Parts: sequence; structure tokens; C-alpha cells
Amino acid sequence: MLSTKDNELMCRVGPGTLMGNFLRRFWIPVFPSEDLPGPDSDPKEVRLLGQDLVAFRDSSGRVGLIEALCPHRRAPLFYGRNEEHGLRCIYHGWKWDVEGRCVDMPTEPAEFNFQDKVRAESYPTQEAAGIVWAYLGPPDKRPALPDFEWMRVPASHRYYITYKQRCNFVQAMEGDIDPVHGGFLHSNLAGSREDSIFERILKSGGIKDDGLVRGKGAIWESKSNYNYVLGDHAPRYTVKDTDYGIMAAAAHKAEEGSLYWRVYQWLMPYHTMFSSVHGHLWIPIDDENTMVWCTSWSVDDPIPEEVRWGALHGEWPHVGTKDPATGLLRATRENHFFQDKQWQRDESYTGIRGTREQDTAVVEGMGALLDRSREHLGTSDTIIIAMRRRLLNLAKALGKGKEPVAATKSKVYRVRAWAGRMEGDAIEGFLDTPDAKERAVTVVG
Ligand code: FES
Ligand SMILES: [Fe+2]
Repeated sequence: MLSTKDNELMCRVGPGTLMGNFLRRFWIPVFPSEDLPGPDSDPKEVRLLGQDLVAFRDSSGRVGLIEALCPHRRAPLFYGRNEEHGLRCIYHGWKWDVEGRCVDMPTEPAEFNFQDKVRAESYPTQEAAGIVWAYLGPPDKRPALPDFEWMRVPASHRYYITYKQRCNFVQAMEGDIDPVHGGFLHSNLAGSREDSIFERILKSGGIKDDGLVRGKGAIWESKSNYNYVLGDHAPRYTVKDTDYGIMAAAAHKAEEGSLYWRVYQWLMPYHTMFSSVHGHLWIPIDDENTMVWCTSWSVDDPIPEEVRWGALHGEWPHVGTKDPATGLLRATRENHFFQDKQWQRDESYTGIRGTREQDTAVVEGMGALLDRSREHLGTSDTIIIAMRRRLLNLAKALGKGKEPVAATKSKVYRVRAWAGRMEGDAIEGFLDTPDAKERAVTVVG
């Protein structure tokens, strides 16, 4: 449970809000670089943290991100002509460069120098790992990019899938650090995971049965290890505050004298990792909409083409009902996520097809911005409680002038999630054992 006041502080992201200011201390992934394929290619509409913007690649290949409406009489610059180092408004021809300078003002006499007095709001961008990143915070606080393992591997070793969820980013993100929901929401009545993700992964090879996946195109833990998760719906937890956010672990029962550990990472301000080669980014479009980035990577070998293809177009694609035109799922609240009640009776736990659709059905179904004052949290919500507390405390601390350390130390992001069966049954202090520490460090970094 969270007071309505704290809930509002945690979820509202527009300019000037507590959380909005916090998020604006970090670089934000905005869209894949290929969306602006070349110099003077078509501009792109962007909505980020409640701000409407337009992105364009100028004649020299630089990416500009400026306010969506022309500073003259507020016509939308998205319709503009992208030509010769600037975006020209179609209403009266005023032209803006990537830094928001007015470089041509054909309707005004040159001697008035009015051109020098007007500026479009603009934000710095940079491209890394095939993504355009933007920084919307104070110029003097601009940090380095986070140093994630998935950003360091070659392009052939990773892929991204994005889609939109129609709810607040914290609400969407909480589902990723909820260690027990998979045994229900993503299961079938036979007690196993219902999609064929394991078969897809096994085909790609390289799974080690301790779940310590160190590459070879592997995406997820082994099927036999996942049975520990399905076999123990009430694991025990330990959580640790870190420079970058929190590290948390759920210990599921395993063979006598051992535990099956799943170690999760929440990294400021919107990254979650629950596997050593798969993670998510939860980017607020505004208070009630989130862009979800699913990142998959391999450490050693390129990801086989059939795995990449399968994730996008196969029988069980990563996001099965995505509408490419809108980025939204076709499965929505309005059509009850295509829930098949007969299938739910006979076989599927939910009757909803697709992991992302199942997740979306529950997080969007709560409403776009959930009032958490009516929740009743249990021990299984331990990691979520810790993440909320840390997120709120960090944002409140910034409100009192304390800058977030992680924003300036990109190397703290060189961590990974992992899973594996370990000897011993001690819970407290587990994350500080040498074995656990070693596994949480990136290999490529
Ligand atoms: S509104 Fe853009 S040039 Fe007039
Ligand atoms: Fe899920």
C-alpha cells in the first residue's frame, strides 16, 4: 500500500514534477536509430515524459529533438520539410536546426534580426547500441550513458522489441520484479509454462543447466530449472540497496540442502533485469502510457536468425498482437484481450494468448494510473515494496538537492540478473556471498 500522495509523487512524470525531475537526470532511449534511416529522412513524432517533441536527422546525420510545435504560431513541425540542415515549418517557412536555432525566417525583414531572438526548445541526443537516446534534464547535470552489457555486444548479438502499454510506467514495471506471478499468469493447468519459449531457446543451444547462462544465444533459464519456480510458489526473499537501485533475490525450494535462486536487478530509473540475457526498459510516454523495450542479447555468439525471426514472427512471438502502425497491442481492455473462457477451463490458466498480452491484461486492467492506497501487499511483494521505496526516496532526495549517484557513474550498470541452484539454505546475506557477487557482474564490460 502507498498513500495517495506518495503514489502521485511516484507516478507523475511531467515537467516540474518530483519524479519527472528525477527521470530527467538520466539518458532516455527514445526510438531505434533505424527509425530515422538517413540524412534528411522523414521526421518522427515523439512523446516523452508528457512532452510532445519532433525528431529529425539533418543533412549531416545528426539527430535533433525539438519541441513539436513551431515557436512562431505553433504549427506542428512534424509536417515540416527536412532540408539542408534543418526542419522547415510548412506554415510560414521558418526553419530550425538540431539545436533549436532559427536558421531561416523568410517572412521577416533581415534587418530586424528577429531570427536570433527566437529559439525552439531542443534536447541533446546521442546514438548508442542502435538507439537514439535523449537527455531532457538541466544541461549542467548531463551524465554519461549507462554502461549496460547489452549495449556493448555487437548488433548481431542483440535485438529489441518495443510496444506500448496504456498505463503508468511504475505499474507496468512492477510486473517485472514480481517473482511469483509467472507460476500463475503465464502457466497452464498442467503446471508448466504455456508458451514454447524453452523449445525456441534450446534450439539456439548453449543452455547450461545451472542456469548460469554465459552466452551461446541463450535467452532464458533452462526448462528443468524453471520447474523449481513452478514447484514453489512461495519463495523467500532478500533485497539489497545498491548504487544503481536494488538487487533482489527469490529463493525457491530445490533439492535437499540447496535453493534455486533467481536474482533480479532494478536499475535507476526504469530498467529491470530478470535474466542474464534479457531485460526490459519502461519508458514513460506520459503519466498513463509507457513504451516497453524488451532487450535480448547474447554474450558469445550472434543470435541465430531463426531465434530473432521467431521472436518477431514465429508461432509464439514475443509480442503476438502488436499493431506496427500504432505500437499498441491489438489485444485491449475493450476486447478483453481476446480471452477464451473455454480454453481457460480446459488448458490455459488465463485463456489469454501470449506472455506480453497476459502481463498487459493485468497491468492495464488496473486502470491507467492505479491508486495504490487500496492494495493489500504480502511477502511476495517484497521486491516491489523495496523498488517503490527506493524510487520514491531517490526522487525525494533530489527534491532536497541530492543528485542520484547512478546518473553520473555509468559503470555501476555493469551488472546482470541470473538464476541458479546453489548449495546452502541461508537467505539473509546471500547476495553478499562471493559466488552470488561474481555471478552478478557482467562478462562483457
Ligand atoms: S507557424 Fe511555423 S513558420 Fe509560422
Ligand atoms: Fe509477466
